[in-house]
Amino acid sequence: MQNTCPSIRRRALAGLLLASVVPGVRAAGSDIEPRVEALLQQMTQEEKIGQLTQYSGNWNATGPVTFKGSHQDHLLAGRVGAMLNVLGAERTRAYQALAMQSRLKIPLLFGQDVIHGYQTTFPIPLAEAASWDLPAIEQSARIAATEAAASGIHWTFAPMVDIARDPRWGRVMEGAGEDPYLGSKIAFARVKGFQGRQLGDTDAVMATAKHFAAYGAAQGGRDYNSVDTSERLLREVYLPPFKAAVDAGVATFMNAFNDLNGIPANGSALLQRDILKGAWAFKGFVVSDWGSIGEMVAHGYVKDQRDAARAAITAGSDMDMESTAYRDHLGALVRDGQVAQSLVDDAVKRVLRKKFELGLFEDPYRFSDAAREQAVLARPEHRQAARAMAAKSIVLLKNEPWPATKQPLLPLQPQGKTIAFIGPLVKAVEDNHGAWAIRIPGLDYSKFIVTQWDGLKQRLPADARLLYAKGSDIQGDRRDGFAEAVAVARQADVVVMSLGESADMSGEAKSRADLGLPGVQDELVQAVHATGKPVVLLVNAGRPLTFNWAAERVNAIAYTWWLGTEAGNAIADVLLGEHNPSARLPISFPRSVGQIPVFYSHFNTGRPVPPPDASGAAGSQAFRSHYIDSPNAPRYAFGHGLSYTQFAYSDLRLDKTRLALTDTLTVRFTLRNTGARAGDEVVQLYLRDRVGSVVRPVQELKGFQKLHLQPGQSRELSFVIDRETLSFHNHRLQWVAEPGEFDLMVGAASDDIRLRASFELLE
Ligand code: BGC
Repeated sequence: MQNTCPSIRRRALAGLLLASVVPGVRAAGSDIEPRVEALLQQMTQEEKIGQLTQYSGNWNATGPVTFKGSHQDHLLAGRVGAMLNVLGAERTRAYQALAMQSRLKIPLLFGQDVIHGYQTTFPIPLAEAASWDLPAIEQSARIAATEAAASGIHWTFAPMVDIARDPRWGRVMEGAGEDPYLGSKIAFARVKGFQGRQLGDTDAVMATAKHFAAYGAAQGGRDYNSVDTSERLLREVYLPPFKAAVDAGVATFMNAFNDLNGIPANGSALLQRDILKGAWAFKGFVVSDWGSIGEMVAHGYVKDQRDAARAAITAGSDMDMESTAYRDHLGALVRDGQVAQSLVDDAVKRVLRKKFELGLFEDPYRFSDAAREQAVLARPEHRQAARAMAAKSIVLLKNEPWPATKQPLLPLQPQGKTIAFIGPLVKAVEDNHGAWAIRIPGLDYSKFIVTQWDGLKQRLPADARLLYAKGSDIQGDRRDGFAEAVAVARQADVVVMSLGESADMSGEAKSRADLGLPGVQDELVQAVHATGKPVVLLVNAGRPLTFNWAAERVNAIAYTWWLGTEAGNAIADVLLGEHNPSARLPISFPRSVGQIPVFYSHFNTGRPVPPPDASGAAGSQAFRSHYIDSPNAPRYAFGHGLSYTQFAYSDLRLDKTRLALTDTLTVRFTLRNTGARAGDEVVQLYLRDRVGSVVRPVQELKGFQKLHLQPGQSRELSFVIDRETLSFHNHRLQWVAEPGEFDLMVGAASDDIRLRASFELLE
């Protein structure tokens, strides 16, 4: 697996290897338990409940802050277990110093939403998922953790591992897309990246698998909305990435705002006790989402805050973020016999264990070191890695030959050319960060972030000219910039347009009912395109957008999402061909909101649309499962993404076509780079179980490999299939592989299958 900017990659890796890891001082696992027990014995009920209470320091509140004024009294009295939104070595040190004056001197945890980088911002998680590059994704989380930990943070509220199939939901940007297999691999990589070698190292932070569970299935894509899903869908689609996070050793879980089949996640014993702490034997702790314990009142699940506290602790929610229900009611609930003391003690012990593992009892200030903070945040190799990751996240959706030259528009050939760079995102600064980036107080982002304009301008040869017009705002209906945009386009040999959403249009509470390019940007493309000049479109967004007019007419389109600090450099790397695009969509792109949900692993139905006949003609669709006004297929399918080179797949071989339950099957084939450039291919393996005790999807991703080939180079690849690969939840919800025929598909995208075979699983 490689990046096509080898020099950048080598330097970044070398830097990371050189970066000193301060070894952990954590107590060995076996030492921790007696210390936790001994400490618990000394604690008053109020101090115990304090450990289960988390307050916000107000820096970046995502909900109403319940704890106004000075935190001092609570900290001094040992009534706070954790804080969020307290940033920086000095501030965390100051808060910790207050906790150190409490009777038992139990250190605070500092949590933060380190979603895609800390000071060095990486692409939004959905964009990184498009890289399908697990080592790079792990490295991105590693760097985020290194920076955050140097800034006093012990704990990130990431990764968000919610599977999301509805781009109206603004939080699709925070996850890894629609697929449980890809989502699980990425969840695992992110947890490993955040937690590093071990908790207790000063470059490792605790990760949080969130939001447990099925938050991504919010009805209508409206944030915080209810979720109604079958238990099979829950177990096959929404839970696997959480299980992968547990397998990776994730320290904490966050539950969710939504109700799941009528039970708010905070009150769900099925999720938290039976599945998480029971079947999965999770030893960490569960934090609520912001105020979500108290919100069970509004859900209509409990009658008041006291009842909310009872329901949450009983169901297995350990720490209360910002609802104060535990603070105000847990003591009385135990006193009145409504909550067992053992439930409180278990939750407290889970929190204390992590504080011991982090080494905070040895040195509560070990993460809050201003000198280390300064040195770590300034590391140039972090920016280099962010640039490489950003380039790997850009999906080339379309790149058709320009009729006059018969050459694809990308990569640009700028020598001696005039390029018009048009659109409201060309010179945007903070928007490149995308939603939910950390804002470091005092940092001048106008100098820190590489804009798209600067990125391209700095790299063009001296004989190339770069012209600019904004054209329009991102939102609003002003068209008075169109004339200038058209005039600038007319002077150019090629036009690059940068359109899309502003950073604050996706993320939490940013659901959209319309997924079109906001404002008048669609009209702007049409006006510029009407000049007859070749147009390359860059779409910046936190979610799949619909842009049908451009998709059908503009010759080259790259989806750039939100790429972070190095956005401009990474975009220039791709436009100029220094990075050969290798990203693939982790989520289907609908043609219209009316198609949602549209995802590749759907069922066939009893009336599927017939496949085209041998001549390519479509069969009749009458009384078939289709729309009368739209194709069923998405605009761009899961797994789609182009390269500046081409790959040929051949010689598919299965070592057997009949497989016993205890056996494995090896699939081999040859991949060859048939183009003129070195490039990466993401080879995807899909299976279909033809007949099941419950119907199975038409395709399920079961493996992928990303690899780099020189022009003309071939490689033999293999995948191994075993019983686990073929298993699913049967009609009794048992995890089994059922004998029968399977179709095997190998290809470059879910809709670009190059090799097919079938095999049989025997009794
Ligand atoms: C979000 C969480 C986040 C928390 C703390 C909530 O509104 O849903 O994902 O971790 O705020 O900022």
